[in-house]
Formats: sequence, C-alpha cells, structure tokens
Amino acid sequence: MKILSIETSCDETAVSLIEATGDFPDAEYKVLGNALFSQIDIHREYGGVFPAVAKREHAKTLVPMLEKALKDAGELKDGQQDIDREVIQSVLEREEGLFEQLITFTAKYGKPNIDLIAVTAGPGLEPTLWVGVNFAKALALAWNLPVVGVNHMEGHVVASVFDGQKLASLQFPSLALLISGGHTELIKMEGWQNYVKVGQTRDDAVGEAFDKVARLLGLPYPGGPEISRLAAIAREANLPEFHKLPRPMLDSDDLDFSFSGLKTAVRYAVQDKELSETDKQAVARDFEDTVAYVLLKKTEKAISELGAKSLILGGGVSANRHIRNTFAEYFAHEYPDLNVYLPDPKLSTDNSVMIALAGHARASAALAPAIETLSTIRANGNRSLSEEALS
Ligand code: KG4
Ligand code: ZN
Repeated sequence: MKILSIETSCDETAVSLIEATGDFPDAEYKVLGNALFSQIDIHREYGGVFPAVAKREHAKTLVPMLEKALKDAGELKDGQQDIDREVIQSVLEREEGLFEQLITFTAKYGKPNIDLIAVTAGPGLEPTLWVGVNFAKALALAWNLPVVGVNHMEGHVVASVFDGQKLASLQFPSLALLISGGHTELIKMEGWQNYVKVGQTRDDAVGEAFDKVARLLGLPYPGGPEISRLAAIAREANLPEFHKLPRPMLDSDDLDFSFSGLKTAVRYAVQDKELSETDKQAVARDFEDTVAYVLLKKTEKAISELGAKSLILGGGVSANRHIRNTFAEYFAHEYPDLNVYLPDPKLSTDNSVMIALAGHARASAALAPAIETLSTIRANGNRSLSEEALS
C-alpha cells in the first residue's frame, strides 16, 4: 500500500510518500518521495518557536511539500479533479491561504495513486497540529481516501528501528528512551502498540534544557546542535571543567528526570561573567556530559528493573553525537546481550517518513478499527503514548 504522510507538530513541514509491501512490522518499505521544510531560519530571530508564526508557515508550505513529495515519487500527474469546493473550503477555513493553494493544485494535477493518508495528530503544538490534520482531511475528501491520526512519539520509536527498508525485529520487553524538545520519557514496550510510561521529566524536556542553556551562552536557536558543536571542541582540546554541575535525580528511587535545576545551575555559573569562547565550550561540554550521564544511569536502572532485551533511543536529541556514542559504547561493553537501536541521524529530528511508518502500524489489518473517521480525527497537543494501546 502507498501511504502519504504529513507532519506539522512543531517547526518542520514535511510530506512523504512511502510504499509498504506486507504487514506491519514485517513489511518492506520504500521511501518514494520525501519533502521537508525546516522553519528554523524563521524562528531563529525570535529565539524559539512561536505557534502562530509556525502555523502560518505550515499553511504556506504544505502544498509545495506535497507537490515535491509526489513529484519525487512519480505521482504528480497532469489532469484535473472534480472536488466539492464548499466542503473542502469549510475544512480549511482556519488555515490561511491553504484552500486557495489546494484548489490551484487540484486544477492542475490528477489524483495520485495513494491508499492511505497518515497525519501527526499529537503530541505537539496544537495550532500547528491542526493545520496538518485539516490538510489531511481536505486531501482525504478530495481523493476519497481513509485517513489515520498518528502519535508523533510512536513515529520517533519506529524511526529508530528503521534501516531504510525494514523495521528491526524487536525483542520484548523493550525500553524506549524518547528525548526531544517537548518530551523526555522512558517507555516500556511489551509489544508493538503496547506502551507504558515508566519514567518522565518532572519539568523541562532534555531538548528544552539544551535550548535554554544555549540561550544562556548566547547561542542561536535551536541550541542542541550548537551546544554539541562547542562541547566537541572542548573535548578535543581537553579543556578543564568550568563548573561542577549537579546530576539531578540520580539517586531518586523512581525513573523520573528533572532538568530545570541543572539549567539554573548553569545560569548561576555563567551569570555576570564575561565568557570567553573557551569558557563557552567548557560549559557546553560540562552540561552535555551531565545530561548524557544522567540519561545513561536512569536508562540502565530501567533496563535492569524491567529486564529489557532491547533499548531504543529516539527523538530529536538522539541526533546528539555524544549521547549516541556514550550509549552505544557503554551498553555494548556492559550489556553485550542488549540490542541497542539508534535512529539514522537524518530520521532523528522531526520528519514525515516516521509518520508514514507509524501510520502503517495503525492501519495494519488487525488494527483497522483504530482508523479515525473524517469526523472524529482531531489534533491533541497532549496525546500520550499510553493511549495508543489497542488491546
Ligand atoms: O524531535 P524534535 O525534532 O522535535 C520535537 O518533537 O520536539 O526535537 C527537537 C529538539 C530541540 O530541542 C533540539 O535542540 C534538539 O532536539 N536537538 C539536539 C540536537 N539536534 C536536535 N539536542 C542535542 N544535540 C543535538 N545534536
Ligand atoms: Zn519530535
């Protein structure tokens, strides 16, 4: 089956077309078309993502991304479609300019060969999620196709075990550590679509902490990659510690995290100081080391408590080279029987390939009732992985 997928949960506007041959999770996948526009340059001047700005940009960019993904896949066919303008207009009435662009598109191109539309329905920024969901609904109406709402975090899990063609055969129980701009959570999986949250941050998400510490150092948004770049220089130069940072929640009895105290400790360490470039590099390294250590130790605790056979690292922060290396080396050495899955760096941060894969999971035959109808699908900024359990 061919799945068109749409992602608009934060500041990436992405559309993909993927062909799945076979049933989830054993199918073979082919990425036929993949288009992504990052709004980072637009948000950088504000120092973060403003939902209203992101919403407007998604509305402006979705049709060009659709066109590119279909073109790459050889599915952009000349022709014209008869569509019910009034119905589609009412679905898109809150998405500035999107209806007009879609009408121009359908006047130029015929219906592509697609079986299902998958769209991120949550979690994320609710105003931006709605743009994607309403666009998916409009396309589903125009092309008379089923639509399925996908949990963004399930997308990250699936992306982490995808090698470009197939999903790894997971051994259960598995543990997923999901670290992104909005989430930091440890998820126990007894099987696919069986998620239990066993630990989470009590305040800031890891990516958020990276972004806030970057701001304290005067680095641009998004801070994660910048911190990582400076930290690598400090490690290479073997710079001395700038400041001893606390390792939050290390000795707590549970599997929870907390990063806001760590961010505050960095603030106290740097405030009222003229930081040299070298100082910034050392602070970035001290911070990154601390985060990697706390994540590693809590993950190890969860693995031994749950008897996990596989570990999946996912979410935007799993693009971080130091965290990846720390996890890969430590677990290969200390837990040689544990299967560790890290996402391809290109699929670590938000993308729509992962949404197509998770959409395939949702749509697989046994799970058919999970497919939303056009009237029930909705964006939910707080959608939780534990709600995805189907049995
Ligand atoms: O998953 P993602 O793309 O979006 C959300 O769903 O939140 O994650 C974005 C987060 C941002 O906070 C960004 O700073 C962080 O991931 N990030 C990184 C790196 N690349 C992205 N954090 C640390 N190191 C990186 N290399
Ligand atoms: Zn994400």
